[in-house]
Amino acid sequence: MKILMFGDVFAKPGRDALKLAIEKLRRIHLPEFIIVNGENLAHGKGITPKLAEELFSWGIDVITTGNHAWDQNESHAYFDQCERLLRPLNYGSGEPRIPGKGVVIVANRDRPSLKLAVVLVMGRVFMDPLDCPFRAADAEVARLRSQGVHNILVDFHGEASSEKQAFAHFMNGKISAVVGTHSHVQTADERVLSEGTAAITDVGMTGCFDSVIGAKKELIIRRFLTKMPTKIEPAEGPGGYGCVVITVDEKTGRAQNIERIREVVI
Ligand SMILES: [Fe+2]
Ligand SMILES: [Fe+2]
Repeated sequence: MKILMFGDVFAKPGRDALKLAIEKLRRIHLPEFIIVNGENLAHGKGITPKLAEELFSWGIDVITTGNHAWDQNESHAYFDQCERLLRPLNYGSGEPRIPGKGVVIVANRDRPSLKLAVVLVMGRVFMDPLDCPFRAADAEVARLRSQGVHNILVDFHGEASSEKQAFAHFMNGKISAVVGTHSHVQTADERVLSEGTAAITDVGMTGCFDSVIGAKKELIIRRFLTKMPTKIEPAEGPGGYGCVVITVDEKTGRAQNIERIREVVI
């Protein structure tokens, strides 16, 4: 089976590029599952129920998020209502309770017996210090595998490439793929590790590439120069997309191939 995964989709240029990309890549690759990181869908900050529903109507199976999960207040309750919208697993449990969950098992629309588990964890290097993403993911994956689920993709939402690469090796052989998100910059290190786990440090942004990670470059430069609070706006203009197509042996859960794609939509 094939899994098509997009990283952080940034504001309207990202949503427009994503729609074009899905139409094109679905014809070429015939993916059984499409996953999108949607933490920047709403003007760069978070996600709204309306935007999530729009993406689901395009045939997207799971939307992951990250540190921007809570940026839109109206979406907090929606994280509990929508099975296929994830927040990082390693926010932990206990009181006060955090809305939503960090794992979902989805079935293929045409072949319901074909299932994929998607897990989202967030890194701790240069990020908020949540529970350990390594231990949280390891425990969740062990639980999934004990239930007979072996087709498993993890979105590791993190800043540091070292943390994401270490995680990929830590999970090698236990999951089908780990796809890095959050940096918005695609890395050229896609590979299938020795025990059958596909990995890429960051799949990159879908949004306006003539920007600083999706935002208007003039505003970001000004913020660096002045160190004063500066309201950030999404860049405008033609967008592009970054994604990976991962081929998995559905009987074993082992990845066979990972293909990296980056294209500017003119
Ligand atoms: Fe992001
Ligand atoms: Fe992020």
